[in-house]
Amino acid sequence: MNPIAARSAPSDPESVERWYASATVRNSPRIVVPDITQGEYIFPRSRQPLSEHPIVTGLGEDAISFVLTQSAYRYMYEIGLLETRYVIDCALNIVNNEIKGASDNEKREALAIVIDEGYHAYVALDFILQMKALSGVQPVEVPDTNGNLDAVRRAFEVLPQHMHHDFQLISVCLAEHTLTKDLLSIGREKDATRTFTQVMTDHVSDEGRHANYFARLTKAHWARLPDATKTVIATLLPSYLDDYLAGDPERGFDRKVLSAYGLAESQVSRVIDETHETYLASMNGYITKTKANLVKLLQRVGIMDFPAARAAFLAHEASAALTSTIRAA
Ligand SMILES: [Fe+2]
Ligand SMILES: [Fe+2]
Repeated sequence: MNPIAARSAPSDPESVERWYASATVRNSPRIVVPDITQGEYIFPRSRQPLSEHPIVTGLGEDAISFVLTQSAYRYMYEIGLLETRYVIDCALNIVNNEIKGASDNEKREALAIVIDEGYHAYVALDFILQMKALSGVQPVEVPDTNGNLDAVRRAFEVLPQHMHHDFQLISVCLAEHTLTKDLLSIGREKDATRTFTQVMTDHVSDEGRHANYFARLTKAHWARLPDATKTVIATLLPSYLDDYLAGDPERGFDRKVLSAYGLAESQVSRVIDETHETYLASMNGYITKTKANLVKLLQRVGIMDFPAARAAFLAHEASAALTSTIRAA
């Protein structure tokens, strides 16, 4: 046994041992993307209704694979963006006291998260590069932002500068919680290749730890904030959740994918129209479920105990209900 590697100090929190023992960056072999053969797909078909439309299936396996390959590219690029532009930045802000109040133990855990997230972004890009080499298919787009990052940017535009880091911690706490549930859910889909599922299950094994860490830190941080800051952030939270979770009812990505495969404009419109109900049902179901989970999380970290937060959500729900009543009339 290596005495240096084996030794841990009696004062170490359980998180240290756990990270050395179970972090995927320390324990997982490289994920090798298989050469997809007929009947196996790189991305779950159940998550991309385009792949089941008769016009697409009528074009054969190559068209189905193309559509799913594009979805896999997008999923992996979005993971990379979230990690490198958002979570790592927040964790480094904890380490460097831009987000104030973390203990040295908490900073060490934040550094573990920087390493984990850097590895997740690495795995995602490695997956993309292997897919490109195997399929010869180029991504229809390489995103440089996503709905979450855009919503945070818009929140920063309305928040005073000195509250940005406080808000960043809360928004990352929300995002890490959502990501954990999303990865669990997509990893359970049965109709994708085992390799895709493996990336999801490896990733989620780290994310549960991250989600707990950010919840703990957010709870402590929120308790330390002055009431004036709490009031401003709490008032923004309901509309921030709407903005952050908004999907794309225009389906710009789906249209681009179909056009890139060579479908005529009229065929693209037909596929979009005929899959739209399924798409919207899935998008709206996701938004409702996720929002309910996030409100529970806000309760767990103490934010909903603050009167202005409760009042803001109640007012928002009342106005949302009113809006739908007016729309229905
Ligand atoms: Fe991650
Ligand atoms: Fe994470």
